[in-house]
Amino acid sequence: MKRIFSGVQPTGNLHLGNYLGAIRNFVRLQEDYECIYCVVDLHAITVWQDPKELRASTREVAAAFMAAGIDARRHIIFNQSQVPAHAELAWIFNCVARLGWLNRMTQFKEKAGKDRENASAGLYVYPNLMAADILAYHATHVPVGEDQKQHLELARDIAQKFNHDFGVEFFPLTEPLIFGEATRVMSLRDGSKKMSKSDPSEFSRINLTDDADAIAQKIRRAKTDPHPLPHTVAELEARPEADNLIGIHAALSDRTRAAVLAEFAGAPFARFKQALTDLAVAKLGPIGQEMQRLMADPAEVDRILRDGARRANAIAEPVLRQAQDIVGFLRP
Ligand code: TYM
Repeated sequence: MKRIFSGVQPTGNLHLGNYLGAIRNFVRLQEDYECIYCVVDLHAITVWQDPKELRASTREVAAAFMAAGIDARRHIIFNQSQVPAHAELAWIFNCVARLGWLNRMTQFKEKAGKDRENASAGLYVYPNLMAADILAYHATHVPVGEDQKQHLELARDIAQKFNHDFGVEFFPLTEPLIFGEATRVMSLRDGSKKMSKSDPSEFSRINLTDDADAIAQKIRRAKTDPHPLPHTVAELEARPEADNLIGIHAALSDRTRAAVLAEFAGAPFARFKQALTDLAVAKLGPIGQEMQRLMADPAEVDRILRDGARRANAIAEPVLRQAQDIVGFLRP
């Protein structure tokens, strides 16, 4: 059986990178896999979250999943904290993963910054919880953006060590699914930085709830270089901002970078940016509007999350129980 699991943190400002790197791929995988998509609120609180905003952001991510086209009846959408197996299995994995492995995680280093002593312990063991998310469902494939690759390798290491230590073939080695032309969308203000929810500049990212005016303004202000667009993909390598905008266009228009360049080679940025704006508004506008519509009825979103959690729990709980038996926890 092929089963997908993936998660998105409810930390506000869902953006184009989340959409092109992850959520859009979630939608496309629905035809071929059984899919479980999770709003990872336990992960969110590894850095401070205002409780009221956390609730709103949780509903917002669920709304984004559905607005993008995920069918919550055929597949599962839920929030992580509603299914206890995630936290319980994560504890077991805290005892499987080695400190040396966690010390290599680049995302912890980035997020903890200089003041590492002051980072939460949760932020440090964050990848163990992520492994628990995936393995509690025996998921075989995990669609993510490029930035999560290292965490998925750790999940494989954890599965392998657990199986080895206890002499079982219990947890699968999960395959990452990183595909499309925009697996790493960069900031619109700086082509060397990832587009991120936490960037203080609103102009660095296009949010999924931005209206047409905001999208137009942000693309108009996006950093570029003074040259016209090149003819070949190889020439984009030394031009990170151009590469990023071409990649976004390619992803949104479902073409390769080469195909987009064939259309815009030699064009000034102004003309290309206008075309990109029209495209982005056409593709993202309906999603943003549908998100707003769904979020206006929080009771309905909650109902869907509750139903999803019930179905997720039915899969995860037996896996957790088996893992506990393997470890030797007595259930008299
Ligand atoms: P999060 O919430 O940071 O991001 C959600 C998804 O969006 C992708 N992404 C991007 N893709 C392309 N360009 C970008 N600039 C960009 N920014 C974000 C991320 O790669 C991710 O796929 N740890 C995860 C959430 C998680 C998870 C899991 C994922 C928790 N448990 C289990 C998979 C499986 C995270 O923080 O994603």
